[in-house]
Order: sequence, then C-alpha cells, then structure tokens
Amino acid sequence: MPTTNAKRKILVTSALPYANGSIHLGHLLEYIQTDIWVRFQKSRGNECYYVCADDTHGTPVMLRAEQEGLTPEQLIERVSQEHQTDFARFGIGFDNYYSTHSPENREHSERIYKALREAGHIATRDIEQMYDPARGMFLADRFVKGTCPKCGTEDQYGDNCEACGATYTPAELIRPVSAISGATPEVRSSTHYFFRLPAFADFLKQWIRDDHVQPQIANKLQEWFEAGLNEWDISRDAPYFGFEIPDAPGKYFYVWLDAPIGYLASFQNLCDREGISFDEYWRQDSDAEVYHFIGKDIVYFHALFWPAMLEGAGLRTPSGINCHGFVTVNGAKMSKSRGTFIKAETFAEYLNPEYLRYYFAAKLTPGVDDLDLNLEDFTNRVNADLVGKVVNIASRCAGFVKKQGGTLSTQCAQPERLQRFIDEGEIIAGDFEAREFNHAVRRIMALADEANTYIAEAEPWVLAKQEGRDREVLEICSVGINMFRQLMVYLAPILPQMAEAARQFLNVDTLDWESRRALLLDHPIEKFKPLMTRIDSERIEQMMAASKEDLVAEQKLRDGNDQTTGEPAEESAGDSTDTPVPPLAPEIGFEDFSILDLRIARIARAEYVEGADKLLRLTLDLGNETRTVFSGIRSQYAPEALEERLTVMIANLAPRKMRFGTSEGMVLAAGDDDGIYLLTPDAGATPGMRVT
Ligand code: MSP
Ligand code: ZN
Repeated sequence: MPTTNAKRKILVTSALPYANGSIHLGHLLEYIQTDIWVRFQKSRGNECYYVCADDTHGTPVMLRAEQEGLTPEQLIERVSQEHQTDFARFGIGFDNYYSTHSPENREHSERIYKALREAGHIATRDIEQMYDPARGMFLADRFVKGTCPKCGTEDQYGDNCEACGATYTPAELIRPVSAISGATPEVRSSTHYFFRLPAFADFLKQWIRDDHVQPQIANKLQEWFEAGLNEWDISRDAPYFGFEIPDAPGKYFYVWLDAPIGYLASFQNLCDREGISFDEYWRQDSDAEVYHFIGKDIVYFHALFWPAMLEGAGLRTPSGINCHGFVTVNGAKMSKSRGTFIKAETFAEYLNPEYLRYYFAAKLTPGVDDLDLNLEDFTNRVNADLVGKVVNIASRCAGFVKKQGGTLSTQCAQPERLQRFIDEGEIIAGDFEAREFNHAVRRIMALADEANTYIAEAEPWVLAKQEGRDREVLEICSVGINMFRQLMVYLAPILPQMAEAARQFLNVDTLDWESRRALLLDHPIEKFKPLMTRIDSERIEQMMAASKEDLVAEQKLRDGNDQTTGEPAEESAGDSTDTPVPPLAPEIGFEDFSILDLRIARIARAEYVEGADKLLRLTLDLGNETRTVFSGIRSQYAPEALEERLTVMIANLAPRKMRFGTSEGMVLAAGDDDGIYLLTPDAGATPGMRVT
C-alpha cells in the first residue's frame, strides 16, 4: 500500500453478477463493501474508478431465455436494467456498469486468447462427455441426472449423490437422463481447448507470497498447489451463448474465460468515453493499483486463472484480490422458506438501504469470515447509533442556531476538542484503507458519544432560558454542529445519501476528507430536516413476509420447477453457471395422476441406518400391510419424533434395491436445502386411506 501523499491511480472492481438472477442481500455485501472503499478513496482525492458489468454468457442464460421465450440478448438486457436499478437504490456508485456481451469484451478476449496461444499456453485435447441427442448439445455434469450407482437413490446430479455423498462421473449414473430434455444422453467425444495453468505454478506461488491475497486465502491456495494444478478447459461446444473462439468454428469461450476479461472491457468502455488511458492502468510496468473485490466462492478463478492469464498475455496482474465471506441471516444460510432470502428490491421497498450499508460496514473486517445479519441486532444498532447518536447531535443543536439567525459562532469554544476530532480522521482513514470498516465505525461512534456527552453536560437548553447567555448557547451549539460535520465526513463513504442531506444542511460544497480541516465559523447553515428515521420492526416482519411471497411468485413463474430440490438457481454453490434450469414439466391428465397410489401411512418405527448419514429406515403401517422405506430425512428428524406420526406415501412405486436393503415406496415431503417438511394429514385420517 503506497504511503506517499501523491494522488494514487486506483481501479476497483466487484465480481460481475450473473445475468440470470436477481441481486440479493448476499451480493449486496460485496457491492457495498467495494463501494465504501471506492467512495473513501475518492474522498481522499485519489483517482479511483469503479467498474462492473453483468456476467451474461453460458448455458443457464441460454436456457433461461429460451424458457421465457426471449433471445439471450433480450433477457440480458432486461436483467441488466433490473440490476442497475437495484444498485442505484443501494447507492452503489459505479463509474461504469457494462456487459460481458460487448464488442470490447470480444476484442479483449480474443486478444488475450491469441497472446496465450502464441506463447504456447493453449493445448487441445479430445474429451468424452455426455451428449443430449434430443437437444444436440453436450451436457455439463450438473445437467445430467440419474440413479446413484452407490446407494440407488434416484434423481441425483451427474457429479455427486445428495443421499450418500458419493462422487462419480455422469457416465456412471444408472439410467441417466438429460435434465434439459429428459432424453437418455450418450457419451461423445469432442475437441476442447485448455489453458496450461500448471506452467504458471512457480509464478503464482511467488505472486501469492507477495501479499496479493489475504493470509487465509494464501493458505487455501497452498492446499490447491499441493493437490496439483490442472489444465483448465476453456472451451464449450455449440450451442452456447458466448464468443466463438478464433480459428475454432463451433467452439466457444467458457463463460469463466471471458467473465474476468469483462473487467477490462468495462474499463475500456469507460476509458473511451472519458479519455482515460487504458494502458496506463494495464501495461505491465503500470504504477496504478488494481483491486478485485470478490466472494470466497470464486477465489480459484481470481487468484489462479486470472493472474496466470494476465501474466501469460503480457498484462499487469492485480495489486490485490480482496475476498469477503458470505452473508447469513439470523445465523443461518439465507432461506427462501424462512423469508430470509431477501432481494435487494424487496429490502428497498420496506427499509432505507442506508441502514444495510451501515450495518454491513459496522461488521465488515478485512477477513473472509461469514457476516451475520441478525435482524434484531440490525434494528437496535441502526436506531441506537445513527438515529440516537449521530442525527441527535445535529437535531439538538440546529434549532438554537436557527433561533439566533442561523449563523454559527465566529469563534470556536472548544478548539482542542475539535482538533482531536480532526486528527482522529487520519486513524479512521487507516481503518478504511485497510478495509477495517468495523474499526472505523467503532471510532466514529466513540466520537459521536463524546459529542453527545459534551452537549448533555453543556446543557444549552438550560442556558437558553437564562438571560444574557445567548452567545454561550450559540458557541456550544456551533461546537456541536462542527462535531457533527466531522462525523459526516467520516460516515460519507458509508452513508452517501444521508451525507448529501447533511451537506445541504451544513451548507458546504463538499464533505471530502480534507475539507474537514477548516472549521465552520461565522458560517450560515440551513434549516434542519430529519436525516434518518428509526427502523420500525414491523417493517422487518413485512419484508420477510414479502420475501416468502417472492418465492411463491417465482415458483409460479418458473412453472414446473424441480420440486424434488426446489433449489433456486441463485442459491446454488460454486460454479452456478452450470446449474441447470429445470425443464418445464409436461402437463398431465387426470388419468396420469390417478396412476399414483398415494396412501396415508402410520410411521410404526423409525431407525438410524448404519453407514448412511442422510437416511432413516421407516416401518410404515398401511392398515393391512407394512412397508419398509428408506428416506433421506435424517438431518431433520430424530427417529423417536417420527414414531406414531401419520404421513403420505406412494404405495405403488417399484421397489428399489439399496445398499442397506430394499425400499418399498416413498414418503412425501416438501423441502429446500435448509428444511424438509414431512406431509401430515388432518386429524381423522387413518392408515391405508387413499389420497386423491
Ligand atoms: N458471475 C460470477 C462472477 C464473475 S467475476 C468475473 C458470480 N456471480 S454471482 O452473481 O454468483 O456472485 C457475484 C458476487 O456475489 C460473487 O463475488 C459472490 O461471491 C457474491 N455473493 C453471492 N452470494 C453471496 C452471499 N450470500 N454472501 C456474500 N457474497 C455472495 O459468481
Ligand atoms: Zn448415493
């Protein structure tokens, strides 16, 4: 980190959100963290640019568009507008928001690819892969489903089994089907293009040692090095929504190749518009700084592939990869069913987005630990700190100043105190610079406490009632307003909208960091308007209820979403571009439905299954017969709690042989990835009763 006072040149990015999902609170942690850091840099007078874009390419976007009856271009245009509206609501001040489906991105992708090829970093090799003959396309592992070859559980993805945890290749699945068309896939061979990552192992090891990543990330990378780096498959066969690879007809760049290049493309687009020199930032000997803010799930791409690609193509590498953890809500993964999977749009509808900016800032560290949004703590903290402390200072003082004509005193009654407030700015700046926003907030609130104590002890409201003490009252309140001004300089990167309102109230041109040094003396201020109101916890309840409604609406929209997992595309872990959008379920007639023999069953016994950490063995009483059924509900139910319960089962499901015995049917449960809810009939139903 440069320590000179010279104006730094800094380019900052946040990860590019996928163009097939909405912005939610998890994303916002990243954009808010980045935005605060950028606003801080700008406040300090550095030349800082913040660019981002939608990540538009790949199979999920292609399928999603098709499902909605749109072209991919139409879909990504719509989503881009939605994303930008959400970002604006949360005060994310991008200097440029662009798209990876842009001419600049095609140009840079081709240029980098060709440079890598010329330097011998590209290999080609034939690989075998599942192919959907009905759709005429190759299938990523996540698009193949079938029966687990180890435990016999049906409807598992092509790479691992959710019931027994086995990993395998899609070709090993029993009765594999394409998740896109339902057809039986076949194994086919095709030529793929690879980036020779192992050739960069030494370079990367050194790069990581040079403090470009946080210590926790360096450790993780060390593990990956020890496991050995592999060549990276950067091509996909047509049909694919993306850029065709030069001199390779029918082959497309894998979305993760052109996504980080999207950072360059967005910046290029900004440079062309504003006359900034692109090369000054990206040539190998550049003295500009480049930082990528990302979540911990995409470290591999940013700390290995990306620096290696840049190095191989003769460009500079990033100054730092700034990685953050994941957002949890009330201590658990965001969940649609609990109403804690909250979209940016929904939050903004019910609550002031600056509340969230403040809360995230108050909890953000430079580390990669997850950050919990505890909604009760959130309410208390925002109300106590922002409304109770900060706004209170101005609201207590403004009236007295107005009464005496609205101009602050010509002399400062507390020069030393204010000098300390000013000096503290350098320490707070150090916290912001180091992304220790939690420390910055703690220091700012300590100053706010001091300001409140000063005013409480000086009691201007008592003096105001006494004869001939107007001057004292004005001086005390002018100190108060000056302290408030210092606080707003420090809070401005976190609360840009409140800072703008405060700037107007204070009647100053700017709240930039340096501007704080000149005290406001003999200075007219404007009429005070409430800068922020308290959070009403009812709004939080309403927001959560609305988030549950979002879920219902979305499921209707998706019509025929895969009910067995119910997993929303946004929530899936890892390489979510390869998460299939489930096919539309065909409409069925009543005859089809009546083929199902659904029965009320009494759970006579429930037991753990040795060696199966997901399964329970259920003995079901159907009135005149008993069945044994293995059910993947162990994570949610203690066996004792199930005994004597009534539930619903499919009684005419063909028996399935599993490792632990034969399963003679299935019990019905609703569920998503954080809950399983066994169905129960109303009181009065009896075992064996037909469900129609
Ligand atoms: N498109 C890729 C990034 C390409 S960058 C060249 C992607 N998109 S994403 O929409 O899934 O995520 C965008 C960013 O949001 C990522 O940095 C991701 O880590 C972050 N987050 C998504 N969900 C999150 C939480 N629940 N919590 C915190 N950050 C999360 O990945
Ligand atoms: Zn299995």
